Amino acid sequence: MARITLRQLLDHAAEHGYAVPAFNVTNMETGLAIVSAARETNAPVILAASRGARSYAGDILLARLIDGLVATFPEVPICMHLDHGNTLATCATAIQHGFTSVMMDGSLKADGVTPADYAYNRDITARVVEMAHACGVSVEGELGVLGSLESGMGDQEDGHGATGKLSEDQLLTDPEEAEKFVRETGVDALAVAMGTSHGAYKFTRKPDGAILAMTVIEEINRRLPNTHLVMHGSSSVPEDLQQVINNFGGDIRPTWGVPVEEIQRGIRSGVRKVNIDTDNRMAMTAGVRRVLAQNPGEFDPRKYLKEGMGLVKELCKARFEAFGTAGHADQITPVPLEAMSKRY
Ligand code: G3H
Ligand code: 13P
Ligand code: ZN
Repeated sequence: MARITLRQLLDHAAEHGYAVPAFNVTNMETGLAIVSAARETNAPVILAASRGARSYAGDILLARLIDGLVATFPEVPICMHLDHGNTLATCATAIQHGFTSVMMDGSLKADGVTPADYAYNRDITARVVEMAHACGVSVEGELGVLGSLESGMGDQEDGHGATGKLSEDQLLTDPEEAEKFVRETGVDALAVAMGTSHGAYKFTRKPDGAILAMTVIEEINRRLPNTHLVMHGSSSVPEDLQQVINNFGGDIRPTWGVPVEEIQRGIRSGVRKVNIDTDNRMAMTAGVRRVLAQNPGEFDPRKYLKEGMGLVKELCKARFEAFGTAGHADQITPVPLEAMSKRY
């Protein structure tokens, strides 16, 4: 059984100079495809479940899915992580269901859409750290609000994310404030805002430094060399997947994601966790659309979901290789939560 905390996993990644992708999981098919890819590349993995995923599958089923993946793939260290927790209760109930890591996203208020001020973020994040660490569970915090430096807009998707116009001060994490935040909250990892946003429509052109401010990561890493940094909104939105979707009846407008080489640049400056959801959503959709368009008589979900799973697996394997995660799973012996929490 190989459930691992974010802290232990990212400490290993830092020591060996690689990053771990955090892939969002919502159902058995994405879970199976992601963890099979991890096994085939000998990579540890972070499975992330958002509030949306928890309400879609339900906590009981989701917890059983994680149990099933951990049991089916005992050689893969799996960190089960709550993505964008909005309250203490979202984080505490995730821990009750077996999560080994939680994100308290205090960059937004509890409604998940209103930008919060520094004091609110620090206070709620510090409370979650105290509660989670008592259970041996790790915590990711976020400073700065995700959104586009091109349009100045927040990145609301499926009810989560800031709405309306944001200032550059809000869209870019302040390195000095980051130092203070890490000191005052005790987070295990810090998500940084530097122009990425969730979803398929991140940039209208190949991003350069004006719209994807990797220098912010570099400056934070200079000030906080021992803090694990996190890049959200890090799907690359591959052109080949856009084309497959569009060739088989879809309608994805021309768009750019975060190039893999920019993520690799981040990894050289302390990025240890890279969040990817959209790319796998696109891969699944591309596979399903293609098989249904080519076989209009097909109605067995196993047949078309298998095609989607194949493309998800391919994408995950490519990211494990590109981020240097491949080859490290068998070097890690997960420390159980009981030992992390020193409870007895
Ligand atoms: O944080 C954003 C992820 O893409 C999760 O999206 O809330 O629709 O599951 P979701
Ligand atoms: P993408 O939408 O770029 O995949 O980002 C996912 C994410 O950041 C989840 O927290
Ligand atoms: Zn995110």
